[in-house]
Amino acid sequence: MSTVTVCQLDDLIDGEARRFDVDGARLCVVRIGDDVLCVADRCSHEDFSLSEGEVFADEREIECVRHGAIFDLTTGEPCSLPATKPVAVYSAGVTDGRVEVELR
Ligand code: FES
Repeated sequence: MSTVTVCQLDDLIDGEARRFDVDGARLCVVRIGDDVLCVADRCSHEDFSLSEGEVFADEREIECVRHGAIFDLTTGEPCSLPATKPVAVYSAGVTDGRVEVELR
């Protein structure tokens, strides 16, 4: 397990997702206020990039733009079809303005 800095918090737009490729992992990092959440940037339905999707900040969910599956950003669980399997969740946080993600 290792912790990596992907960017500064100010580099992220509140309520939007951004993709980072780190050590072979495709990460979808979402800023909601001063919090950051991170899931794998691979929809479990057909491996599409979740970071291209719309974030629902209040619900802490993201919608895959390809077929509309919605995922809970805190658990990775799908909230709607056509996805039926969860996406991987990564522990993420902000330290001194740096966005850090724990890889495993
Ligand atoms: S690829 Fe994401 S819902 Fe189909």
